[in-house]
This record gives sequence, structure tokens and C-alpha cells, in this order.
Amino acid sequence: MVNGKVFSSFSVLVSFILFNGGIINESYAAGPIPILNPTFKYFLENYPDDTLDFSVLGDWGFPGQNQTKVANALKVTTERFNSKFIINVGDSFYVGGPYTYDGVSNSSDPKFNTIWKATYTGALANIPWYSVAGNHEWYNNVTAEVDYSLTKDARFFLPALYYTRVSLVGPNKAKIAWIHIDTDPFYYTDLVSLKQSQPAMYNSLVQQGWDKNDNVEKLLGWIETELIAHQDSRWIFVVGHHPLVASCKNTGNMTRLSALFENYHVSAYFSGHAHTLEYQAPSASEPVSYFISGSGSKLGDTCDGRTWGDLTPGFLHISLTASNKTANFQYIDASDTTKTGGSVVYSGSIPPRNLPF
Ligand SMILES: *[C@@H]1O[C@H](CO)[C@@H](O)[C@H](O)[C@H]1NC(C)=O
Ligand SMILES: *[C@@H]1O[C@H](CO)[C@@H](O)[C@H](O)[C@H]1NC(C)=O
Ligand SMILES: *[C@@H]1O[C@H](CO)[C@@H](O)[C@H](O)[C@H]1NC(C)=O
Ligand SMILES: *[C@@H]1O[C@H](CO)[C@@H](O)[C@H](O)[C@H]1NC(C)=O
Ligand SMILES: *[C@@H]1O[C@H](CO)[C@@H](O)[C@H](O)[C@H]1NC(C)=O
Repeated sequence: MVNGKVFSSFSVLVSFILFNGGIINESYAAGPIPILNPTFKYFLENYPDDTLDFSVLGDWGFPGQNQTKVANALKVTTERFNSKFIINVGDSFYVGGPYTYDGVSNSSDPKFNTIWKATYTGALANIPWYSVAGNHEWYNNVTAEVDYSLTKDARFFLPALYYTRVSLVGPNKAKIAWIHIDTDPFYYTDLVSLKQSQPAMYNSLVQQGWDKNDNVEKLLGWIETELIAHQDSRWIFVVGHHPLVASCKNTGNMTRLSALFENYHVSAYFSGHAHTLEYQAPSASEPVSYFISGSGSKLGDTCDGRTWGDLTPGFLHISLTASNKTANFQYIDASDTTKTGGSVVYSGSIPPRNLPF
């Protein structure tokens, strides 16, 4: 199914990237590889329909039966609801199937075709995948995925490791801000053991300067600046790889992120990494909806999802309606192939922000 409207708005987006993408605010100086650094521009998307539909998929790059099952259910859901994009929370390419190496090696790596393009077909091949990097991206060549996005196929959207998008939804242009972040520098703080266990990742972090506290503070500062800049949004969504659900939020410096999100009234944080589906509802002390959608291919791990969890192949589907300010979500279990499009195993909604704006 080809959706003309989406495709043309995506072309506009692509030309924006081609002419403006990767431009770095000169006052920001961390690390020698400019395309990986945060940009202070945001990408603007207009959605004239009142309802904006999308799905969140994570940890999907392990070829096999479960990847195929999830891909099929995701395709059916995307076509049924006319979803506009996929939010990809990372770990896009693993060691597995015919591949003896993690991540990708360069921007011509065959994995872009076999693990991504050939697996996610139909409507999934026409819409953008708004991506972030996971640890498996860093285990090999994280630069190559950014390079692929900038030079080969912008539909795999990763113009920088930190970037912001703004979606204007419906006739009244309800504003949604999306802040896409790389959580790796906050999660991996024991660099001595990282150097032993994942030398390629360690070397890339050092090359970026992200082994230094000052530079990690600058990344946190960028996130805070973006949150402040987009306080007039009806929803603020943050997308990152590592989870902040229940027990998982205490790893490394991850609590620095949850503190920021809670302080600036982030509506929801979408993550993966734990190969499961888990959800933590907002509470008075932690007023953010925390999601894990990390079971796109390989199962395992848990964060003891405080509100709900299920160890099954699947993904998270969301339908947001601007006029009545609802964002309904459904976790989809894709394990049973006799159920076309999978089955809903848990559902709820993400409250809109009620600040005076
Ligand atoms: C890119 O990586 C693939 C997979 O490791 C390898 O087969 C290929 O030779 C590499 N291409 C270039 C141009 O380095
Ligand atoms: C990583 O990928 C980039 C972009 O494709 C390429 O220029 C670079 O040589 C690769 N690095 C290594 C170590 O292969
Ligand atoms: C991150 O964690 C390390 C080790 O726990 C700590 O020494 C450091 O100050 C933290 N850095 C930041 C930027 O929060
Ligand atoms: C695939 O999913 C099934 C449950 O439907 C699970 O038992 C199996 O371990 C999963 N396979 C992998 C490789 O994670
Ligand atoms: C808001 O509108 C959507 C789309 O018409 C509908 O699915 C949803 O149930 C409505 N929610 C409320 C609270 O009215």
C-alpha cells in the first residue's frame, strides 16, 4: 500500500535533511565525528489527519522465526491503521542467521537489505523508521548506520545519534515533540570492564569523547535544552534504547535521564534493550509512562515491568487523536501466526500534557 500523503511529506523531510541535515550548532564541541553529535535543529512533520498512528519496535535484528512473525503482525497493523512511521528503539542488527558479526561493518553492509528491507515489506517499506542506536550498533560501526541514513536511504532515519522531531497533528496542528537520544553513554559507565568486554564500543566512545564526564554532561545538557524548548507540546515523547522501567532504571547513570523526564513533564519514554514487552504506568512520584518494546526478534531479560509485562514476540502500537487528546496504546503479541496482525495483550492510554499552554 502506498500512501501518497505520507510519502510526499516524507520527501519534504528528506530534502530538509539533504540541505540542512547534520548541521551542528558551532557552540557544541564534543568529539571529532560531527555527524554523531546532537543537532539543535528539529525536523518538522505535518499530519493533516486528526489521528496519528504509529508502532514502536525494538531489538529486531536477529534473523529467524520470531523476527518474521513480528514483521508480519507489524505489517498487517501498519496497513490496517494506516500508520505513518515506525519508532525504532535500536539493536537493529545482531550476530545471527548467516552473519558472524554484530551491528554493521560499513554503509554497504548487506544486512541493510536482508535484515531490514527484505523482512519488513508492504506498507513497512514505504514509511520512515525513526531510529536510535542501541549497544549492538556500537559493538561494530555505529557511524556506518548514520552514514547509511544520510547517504543511502533516509527512510532508515538516523541523521545523528541525538535529534529532535516535531509532529503537527490535525487541523489545529497539535504539537508533539520527539527527542531521540543515544542512551549508551549513560548506561555504560564502567568503562574499565567495557574496554575488556566490548573493545570496539569502548574505542568509539573514547573517539567521541563520551568517556569524559564533562562531555556526557553536555549530552544531558542538550536533552534538557530540547525539553525546555518544546514545553509547549501536547505530548513530549523521548526515544532511547535502554529502559527506565522499574529495576532497569538504576543502571549506570540512567537515573539522570528519568530525573530530567520527570522534571520536564515528558509524556512517555519508549525503549527496548530488555527483550520483552513491559510497561510502567505514571504515578505521582514517577509521572512518565515508561515503555519497553524490545521483543522484535529474540526473547529474554526483564525489568520486572511494574504495571505489566509479557515475554513474547511483539511490539507496541499507538493511535493518537489530536481533537480529543487521546493516545491509546496496545501491546501486540505476534507469537500465534493464526491470528492475523497478532493479538492485543495489554492496552491503555498516555495522558496528554495539561500545562497552561
Ligand atoms: C562492508 O562490510 C561487509 C560486511 O562485513 C564486507 O563484506 C564488505 O567487504 C565491506 N565493504 C567495504 C566497501 O568495505
Ligand atoms: C565505519 O563506517 C564508515 C561509514 O560507512 C566508514 O567510513 C568507516 O571506514 C567504517 N569504519 C571501520 C572501522 O570500518
Ligand atoms: C556517571 O557514573 C559514574 C560512575 O558511577 C560517575 O562517576 C559519574 O559522575 C557519572 N557521570 C555523569 C555525567 O553523570
Ligand atoms: C521465539 O518466541 C518463542 C515464544 O513464542 C520463544 O519460546 C523462543 O525462545 C523465541 N526464540 C528466540 C530466539 O528468542
Ligand atoms: C478519541 O477519538 C478516537 C478516534 O475517533 C477514538 O478512538 C477514541 O476512543 C476517542 N477517545 C475518547 C476519550 O473520546
